[in-house]
This record gives sequence, structure tokens and C-alpha cells, in this order.
Amino acid sequence: MTTDILIIGSGGAGLSAAIKAKELGCDVVVATKTLPTNANTCMAQGGFNASNSDDVQTHIDDTLKSSRGIGSPVMIKTMCEKSNDALDWLLALGVPFSLDDNGKLANRFMGGSTNKRTYYAEDYTGLKILQTLYDTCLKNSITFKENYYLLNLIIDEDSKEVSGATFLDISSGEVREIRAKSVIIATGGYSGVYNGFTTNGFGSTGDGIAAVIRAGGIASDLEFVQFHPTALKKSSILISEAARGEGGYLVNSDGVRFIDELLPRDEVSRAISKELSQKKEVFLDVRHLGSEKLSHLLPQELKLCKIHEGLDMACDLIPIKSVAHYTMGGIEVDQKLQASRLKGCFAVGECSNAHIHGANRLGGNSLLEIISMGLIAGENASNYTPKKIEKENNQLLKDKAFINAIYSTFTNQINFYEKREFLGKILYHNAGVIRNDTGLKGVLSALRQMQKEFTFMGISDKSKEFNTNLVDFIEFGNALEVTEMILVGALHRCESRGAHYREDFPQTNDTFKSHSIFYKVDGVLCAEFLKESDCSTTASLHKKSVK
Ligand code: FUM
Repeated sequence: MTTDILIIGSGGAGLSAAIKAKELGCDVVVATKTLPTNANTCMAQGGFNASNSDDVQTHIDDTLKSSRGIGSPVMIKTMCEKSNDALDWLLALGVPFSLDDNGKLANRFMGGSTNKRTYYAEDYTGLKILQTLYDTCLKNSITFKENYYLLNLIIDEDSKEVSGATFLDISSGEVREIRAKSVIIATGGYSGVYNGFTTNGFGSTGDGIAAVIRAGGIASDLEFVQFHPTALKKSSILISEAARGEGGYLVNSDGVRFIDELLPRDEVSRAISKELSQKKEVFLDVRHLGSEKLSHLLPQELKLCKIHEGLDMACDLIPIKSVAHYTMGGIEVDQKLQASRLKGCFAVGECSNAHIHGANRLGGNSLLEIISMGLIAGENASNYTPKKIEKENNQLLKDKAFINAIYSTFTNQINFYEKREFLGKILYHNAGVIRNDTGLKGVLSALRQMQKEFTFMGISDKSKEFNTNLVDFIEFGNALEVTEMILVGALHRCESRGAHYREDFPQTNDTFKSHSIFYKVDGVLCAEFLKESDCSTTASLHKKSVK
């Protein structure tokens, strides 16, 4: 199959890019490993940040401050300046944003924001945006390839131009390719590697990031993982920051409020971890808001507490803990969102690192990023003129051989589901909110052992069609690749900055006011730190790379 623009991933970033590219006259195919709208965009429940002209500079300042010194002023300015247009675009598409008593768009505070600029659709903001974008795609006859699991990018080794990707067609079990003039990766983040300790689904395993690394591209800042302060204690289900934005408290088992609830997430999560380490429990307390207000503003959270914890937010304290929610690191892109070292390949949304969030993202900026940057990615990919589309490329053959090997030579002596669960647990406890050298080294050595044992894992279900055992296994392979980068970055960043807190290096150290950069040479992971100014062009990365 051939198209103009191939978009991999059907969350908010991918769909915004698709709508823009289609509007510019391109033929667009969106490939998604499950079904459209099954994406972590839904996990951004609390709202969408948009700043009016009086507030743009404050929004830029808040975002820069929260990035803890490593956000790009240029990219942050671009995003904040486009925020109002992005909101208007969503309104024009029909997103049902909530209104206040005067019939005006309602907004609320989110953590780390000086002004009230988070627009919302109750506490279903991401979901409503996603559904509206998907409706728009269908109206615009955008083609979807469902149950298409990304295997690898198709790249011309000489020109380093990406001309498509290979996929496992989950419904048939066949390996297929889609060729395109340009490719947009929008595959989401990697919080899923914290299996059992994340608000995300199992599928957020950084598939796009792993594919970019295998293709010779660059990833950056993977050690920065955002732990959302309020997940339900037993199930890790997200309870939106909107609960605190609307006036909810955090209290410990002594009934004491121990932190300003609307500080940025890195600070709040650390404060919660400190309480828990002193053997206290931590609760979200919204009882004072009253059931009418709760039903009106936070209907989803009310249901989630009821279903998963059997608790009524209007009457009960809600036990919480912080879990992995969002990943700031990702595919290193330039200011046009083109992936470093990969021509004709763009990346957008949580899978990418456009240096917007730096070491710590502000609540409400993820939805803004995926829409504002999604539109930019769609436009830039549409304007990309390929040098050529490769006719012959052996990626398809290689990937067919890989899938055959999983069926025939991988031995399935070791149960990878147990390893996946184990990895999630040790990551959470050693590469979580609080980290140190010994813990990180321990997890890295366990991870490297799992990498060695990978061919002794494999699948027990040998059927071809809709083989979820196979999909889970390939995802686990990607999770191992991505986790190695989290750990290497976290080990070598001997300082504390934003979401990365080292108890053995509790201070921020400006020697590390830089980005961790990851790439592979002959299959071996290499890492270095680069200053923002050295990251600003793909060319400088070429110069700095270790051969
Ligand atoms: O808490 C939340 O509603 C999450 C929002 C976000 O990640 O932006």
C-alpha cells in the first residue's frame, strides 16, 4: 500500500496531524495497533491549556519554570502562542467544552499555573477531544488501518530517508508494509513499562521510540517520567488533577495537609512519597466540595472511585499514591518536528521530545501540545518532498523472518508476562519518584539479564489471527529497549531535576542542564548529554555523534 502521509498512532496528536494533512490535499493513512481512539489522550482528563493574549507570556513563563531549565524557549513560545487558535479549532470541530453559569467557556486551575487557563469538558476532556477528532477524520474520509502493529521504519541506508513502515497485521498475522512520501510517528509514551504502577494501559511501551532507535534515529531525556500525584491506591487508576484544581486537598493519616496541592506534579509527588515512606497513608479529600459540585465537575472521578475502590468521593477519603503517568522523553525532533537523523520522518505528541516539557510537564499542556504540534506536524509532513521512494528494501523480509523466528525458534521457556510484571515493580521502586545509584544499577542489571533471555521467552499461543500473545511479546521487546534508556539516563544524570529525583544527588547541578541523547551504534546503546543549543539542529547532532 502507498500513500502520501503515513501516520502511526491514532491518539490526539496523530488525528490532528491527519486532519491537517488531509485538508492540505494529501492522501493520508492512519495505522493504529488497536482501534482508533484507544489512546492515552483519554488520560488527560482535567483540561486543555489555552492562554489569551494577556496571558501568553505568563503561560510561557509557567511552562519554562516547570521544565526546570531544560525546556526550549522557542518551542514553548510557539506552543503557547498557538494555544488560543488550537482551542478555537477544537471548538469549531465541535468539542463540547463545559460552560460556566454565564454561558462562557469554563476554566479551572491546574498545578503550577499562575492563571486559570485550563478549559475542560467535565473531567472527560481528552476523551471528548479524541472522539471529536475521530468523527472529523471519518467525515474527511481519512483511511484507517486498524490492528496494525508497527514493527519497523523503512529507511534508505544511504540517504537516511524514511519511506514507510512495516506492520504486523494483527487480524491476519501477516507482515505488511505501507509506503509513504513522509511518515508521522504519534505512538504515545512509555509509562506502560511501569507495569501495574501506571495510569496508562499496557500498550504504552514506547513502540515508536524503539523503532526510531533501531532505524538509526535519536531519542532523548527518557529518564524524565512524570508520576501523577493522585492515582487510586489499589488500582493505579488516575484521579484527575482537576480534583485539586477544583479545591480538593491532600491529607495524610494524621489529617494534616502537607503540601500546596497545586504545585507542579514533581513536587507534589515527592511530598506524597515522603509521607508514604514515613508509613503514613495519603488521601485525596474532596468531601467539602459537596456531591452536587462533584457530579457536575468531576463525574468520571466519582464513578472511578466507586467502581475501583468502592468509595464515594462525597463522603469518603480517597487513598492515593503517585504512579507513572506521562513521559517527557521521546524521539528527538527538530523545530519542524522532524526526527533527528531520519529524513521525512516526523514525530509528535508524547512519543516525541520537542523540548516543550523539559524535566516536568504542566497539567493541561499535554492536550495543548498534541493539538498545536499535531497540526504543525501534519503541515510539515505534507510539505516534505521526498528525494525518492525506495522500490527495493529488505525491511519487510527481515520482519517476516523475525516473526517466523518468534513462532519457530524462540523457546518459550521463560514466561515474559511474569518478567513484565516484575520489571514494572522493580522500576517503580527503584526508578520511580525517588532514585539512587544502587537501585538504578540493580534494575539495569536485571533488565540486561532479561534482554539476554529474550529468545528463551516467546509465545505459547501459536495461532496466526488476532494473536494477542504475540503482540504482547513484541511490545515487551520494545519495553526492554526503552527501559534501558530510562535507566542509563537516570544513572548518569547525577543530579535532581524535575521528575528525576536522586536522593544521592538531591541538588540540581547545572553541569547537567542538558538533554540526555540516546542512539545505537552497531546495535549497542550509546548515550551522551547535549546542551539545548547543540540540540537545536539535526546537523549539530550529526557532528556530535560517536561513530
Ligand atoms: O490529571 C489529569 O487530568 C491529567 C491531565 C494531564 O495529564 O494533562
